[in-house]
Amino acid sequence: MRSRRSVLAVPGSNPRFLEKAQTLPVDEVFLDLEDSVAPLAKEEARGNIVTALREGDWTGKTRVVRVNDLTTQWTYRDVIEVVEGAGAYLDCVMLPKVQNPTEVVWLDTLLTQIEKTMGYEPGRIGIEAQIENARGLVNVDAIAGSSRRLETLVFGPADFMASVGMRTLVVGEQPPGYEEGDAYHYILMRLLMAARTYDLQVIDGPYLQIKDVEGFRRVARRAAALGFDGKWVLHPSQVEAANEVFSPTQEDYDHAELILEAYEYYTTVEKRGAVMLGDEMIDEASRKMALVVAAKGRAAGLSRTKSFTP
Ligand code: GLV
Ligand code: MG
Repeated sequence: MRSRRSVLAVPGSNPRFLEKAQTLPVDEVFLDLEDSVAPLAKEEARGNIVTALREGDWTGKTRVVRVNDLTTQWTYRDVIEVVEGAGAYLDCVMLPKVQNPTEVVWLDTLLTQIEKTMGYEPGRIGIEAQIENARGLVNVDAIAGSSRRLETLVFGPADFMASVGMRTLVVGEQPPGYEEGDAYHYILMRLLMAARTYDLQVIDGPYLQIKDVEGFRRVARRAAALGFDGKWVLHPSQVEAANEVFSPTQEDYDHAELILEAYEYYTTVEKRGAVMLGDEMIDEASRKMALVVAAKGRAAGLSRTKSFTP
């Protein structure tokens, strides 16, 4: 599974940002044709993106293009121009404002046709589906199961808040007047359940107050604690925070690797199923929890600082 702790949004209409993005230590970039690109700039942005993908150095990053949503006139040309022009340099297509599984099926079919026409490897290009309105959320289970190309569900908080009539202009912050609990909890959980049902990753959307890195961290931690894999970043100032918040701490990583090693030793060498590791009881369920943290730590490039001795 690809690491997607930090997912950088880059407007396809801005060649300077397309250059700069290549230098930032993010796990994924998505080159945007949708809401960060003005209607009159869409066509030129397609060309910029093809050039940037073909000629840029994106080493170490997952390369994604966000096309326009299927209520617009742009979507099919976005996909055809970008994938025919740079399909071999592209990992996924992101489809915004998905409301029904048929939209994902449409994209899957079109990608298959382009792959055949161009002689690309069949099925290599993945899909990321953004859930950004009530209908998308209500249909999220069917959307999550709609294509083998799907790799992630992505929450689009700005569009979502607008679509349901949430009374705030600050994306990710609690709406004034809602004093108890977290107004986003249901939405995040709903996405998480649908994603995990189909072994997909799940990514939180943007935090627009780019000067407020502490605010970014606070909102990112909420999603990370639930199990989200990463979050969008809009500015270099948010990158380090995202990579950190969505990686386990060194302490948790060491602990997880210790549990795995100790459990392996006790169950195979000593043939015991529930055993003590220091002060804690570990069993098969602990192993599964440890696997999650260890996998995230390895993907984040952490290395162990403690080893197990029976
Ligand atoms: C992202 O696309 C959002 O609407 O928040
Ligand atoms: Mg949006």
